[in-house]
Amino acid sequence: MQYLTLFASGTGSNAKKIISFFKDHDTIRVNLLVSNNPHAKALEMAGAAGVPTITVSKYSFYETEELLDVLTQHQTTWVVLAGFLWLIPPYLLGAFPNRVFNIHPALLPAYGGKGMYGMHVHRAVKANEEERTGITIHRVNERYDEGEILFQASCAVEPTDTPELIAKKVQTLEHQHFAAVIEQTILKEI
Ligand code: GAR
Repeated sequence: MQYLTLFASGTGSNAKKIISFFKDHDTIRVNLLVSNNPHAKALEMAGAAGVPTITVSKYSFYETEELLDVLTQHQTTWVVLAGFLWLIPPYLLGAFPNRVFNIHPALLPAYGGKGMYGMHVHRAVKANEEERTGITIHRVNERYDEGEILFQASCAVEPTDTPELIAKKVQTLEHQHFAAVIEQTILKEI
C-alpha cells in the first residue's frame, strides 16, 4: 500500500476530495493530515472522515525533524500539499525525493512565488486582465512553485469575472483533477 499524507493550512476542500477519492483505493490511502494551523477547517473535515490529524508549530517544522518521525511511524510514502503555505524544509524533501506534490491556483510560472496564494493570485490575474487562468500540479522543491510541472488545466477569464468568480472556476478545476493526477503519477512511479 502507498500512503499519502496531506498537508493543509485552510479549508481543506482539496484535501476532502482527495480523501474521498482514495477511500477504497486498492493501492493508495490517505494516512494522515498535517496542519500548521490549529484552527484549520481541514482538521475537522479530516477527523470527520476518519483520517488522523496532527498540528505542527513553526519551530517544530523548521528547527526539528519531529514531523519526520511521525510520518515514518505512519509509513508515509508520498506527501501532498493541499493549500499548505509554508516552504517545505530540506529534511522533508530529502526523505521523500520527488514524492512531494503541490497544487497551485494559476498557470505557473505565471503568478507563482512567495505571497502568491489563494485570492492574491486571482486578484492579480484580474488586475492584469488575463484572458485565461487555471491550475498547476507540480512536484515540490526547495523554492516556492518551481518544481517540475506534472499537469496544467486552464479556463477562460471573462472581462466581467470578479476575483471571487475566478476563484470558483479555478477551484472547480482543482477538484476535477488533483486526485486523479496524484493517482496516475503514483501508479506510474511505483
Ligand atoms: C487552493 O486553491 C490551492 O490551489 C491554493 O490554496 C487553496 C486551498 O484551498 N494553494 C496555493 O495557493 C499554494 N500556493 P482548499 O483549502 O479549499 O483546498
